[in-house]
Amino acid sequence: MTKPDPSVIVTKSLAAEVEHIRQPGYPVHAHFVNRWSSRSFASRPVEEEVLFTVLEAARWAPSSGNGQPWRFVVARTQAERERFQTFILPGNRGWSDHAPALILLISYNLNAKGEPSGSHAFDAGTAWGTIAAQAALLGLNTRALGGFDREAARQALGIPVEYDLHAVIALGYRGDPSSLPDSLRERDIPTGRLPLNELVHNGVFGAQE
Ligand SMILES: Cc1cc2nc3c(=O)[nH]c(=O)nc-3n(C[C@H](O)[C@H](O)[C@H](O)COP(=O)(O)O)c2cc1C
Repeated sequence: MTKPDPSVIVTKSLAAEVEHIRQPGYPVHAHFVNRWSSRSFASRPVEEEVLFTVLEAARWAPSSGNGQPWRFVVARTQAERERFQTFILPGNRGWSDHAPALILLISYNLNAKGEPSGSHAFDAGTAWGTIAAQAALLGLNTRALGGFDREAARQALGIPVEYDLHAVIALGYRGDPSSLPDSLRERDIPTGRLPLNELVHNGVFGAQE
């Protein structure tokens, strides 16, 4: 096996806040481990240039047949964010109300023949991963939320049935965790991951060693 290039092994630059819980088993770029989804957002607005840089990264994500089924409904003004708040479930409002930008990620659910697409949701997930990565590279925080009323969102935003609604992505600069309600502050910590040997199946499903 080719040994990883030592110049790109930067796991030693793990952020102090993650290193006790997020120790990679292999020497991945620290970026992947340092990114985590805080619930704490500063009131500082996301500059238009920064927001569009994040969305531009998603534009370059790979997709099946280069179909690019993802679409982004962005809420930045007070009125736009209040409209989003009508369909975000109460359990997510305590933190997401403070995010300066909310992005609803949707995808076109038909293929070129007008039949149900088998890949649009996978492609939309790739777009989300790219958004999260680009935002982290720019020093911003993201947290996706699936806890919203999809039918209410469809009505409120006028989204046709040919689009599936996946997640609202809260985007902004990290805030002071002390501004979070106690119950959320205690949970607002980086999480660990399953070990790779529980995820990898060698050759056939179920063969892990
Ligand atoms: C599709 C999706 C839906 C999620 N829904 C919620 C949600 O409704 N509320 C919430 O607080 N976090 C939600 N999360 C955040 C995850 O809980 C979080 O990403 C996961 O615990 C991994 O942590 P990390 O992103 O900090 O590495 C969601 C994440 C994804 C990708």
